[in-house]
Amino acid sequence: MPGIPRDKSPDTTLALLREGYPFITNRCRQLGSDAFVTRMMLRRVVCMRGEEAARVFYHPGRFTRNGAIPRTTFALLQDKGSVASLDGEAHRVRKRMFLSLMKPEAVREMGDALERAWRATLPAWSRMDRVVVRDEIGGVLCRAACDWAGVPLTEAEAVERTREFRAMIGGAGSVGPRAWRGRVLRARTEGWARAQVEAVRDGSLAVRDGSALEVIAWHRDDGGELLPVKVAAVELLNILRPIVAVDRFITFAALALHQHPETAREAAGDDRYLEMFTQEVRRFYPFFPVIGGRVLEPFEWRGHRFAERDWVLLDLYGTNHEKRVWGDPDRFRPERFVIWDGSAFNFIPQGGGDFETGHRCPGEWITIELVKRAVRMLVNGMGYVVPRQDLTVSLSDMPTGPASGFVIQRVEAVA
Ligand code: HEM
Repeated sequence: MPGIPRDKSPDTTLALLREGYPFITNRCRQLGSDAFVTRMMLRRVVCMRGEEAARVFYHPGRFTRNGAIPRTTFALLQDKGSVASLDGEAHRVRKRMFLSLMKPEAVREMGDALERAWRATLPAWSRMDRVVVRDEIGGVLCRAACDWAGVPLTEAEAVERTREFRAMIGGAGSVGPRAWRGRVLRARTEGWARAQVEAVRDGSLAVRDGSALEVIAWHRDDGGELLPVKVAAVELLNILRPIVAVDRFITFAALALHQHPETAREAAGDDRYLEMFTQEVRRFYPFFPVIGGRVLEPFEWRGHRFAERDWVLLDLYGTNHEKRVWGDPDRFRPERFVIWDGSAFNFIPQGGGDFETGHRCPGEWITIELVKRAVRMLVNGMGYVVPRQDLTVSLSDMPTGPASGFVIQRVEAVA
């Protein structure tokens, strides 16, 4: 019989928090379907996974992100007035602003900024008894992001901003103290970002033409008006914070190089392989578990009627691990990308579909560049040893990473 099966539990919120990333996949297996209806936070929701589901979800204009993830998470990651909260023409105009910052030359400059900041920090790492990559790389990324975006940053500010950005990302998957801490810190960071925008507008800060800060400060929305300072500040943070969040992929990349040393040898000299290695890091390791949407335009799929405001969760992690597409999804195997079909719907660590008309992450090219540059630094730009430590990656923590944070020792720069 057509239709989408129903999970029998009265509410699955706690199961999601307990099981973490595999939650949707677990139930899909039990129910023999790649979509099911359940209740979370006392609301009905359709959970779905896989290429076909992603195609349905990313059909242009079908879903809004408003009201689609818990308010605390939204406040930490995007917030009111941000591009993610917009739909239709207003979204398209704002999204073009983000995409204008992602030209190949700008992406390369972001990579150069990372390399500079990384090399500058190596002497300090070489004096440290142990370097926890997860904890240290965020600071490197924060300095590089501000340098690239045209935002001045003192050393003291670099430490504070890194702490704040990391708390926002770390708190996004939780409720309670971790999320509250993220919100308190977010308010402080927003005050700082507002001051940057105001300084550009009143001429007290000279900023590079075409830098992210300059573009955001002078961007005009579809009504032809400058963005309200608060919204411009939110969008500046929407560039800086996710660049710092790439620390999670870089930590995973370091873990993969360690656990699969043959890939390190290949990645050292072969750019094509390095690209595939980076894609495999984004596919294999868990980061954003799901993306939520509320129906804007009613539609029908599999005999199920999706009415306006219905809530849907698309499983990003589960889609990247779908057996039908990937064959052996739970093996780390960069070579799989030799024959990947390039679909915008089966490999969706940062969302899928069209960049301009949909909500797909505009930061994908920067993310890929940063991970590639990081891998080059790790395999060619420095020496280190990896001591024994707990490298378990728990799938029930969201977001997650290796338990130890990936510790390295005896760091030395290689010219
Ligand atoms: C949106 C993931 C890095 C800026 C998104 C979405 C996801 C995502 C899942 C939502 C897609 C949707 O709603 O359909 C990630 C991950 C990253 C990352 C895992 C790795 C660290 C970046 C970077 C930037 C960025 C580096 C900017 C430089 C944004 C923005 C949006 C977004 C502005 C909202 C787009 C819109 O609503 O149209 N990202 N992202 N992200 N991301 Fe990223």
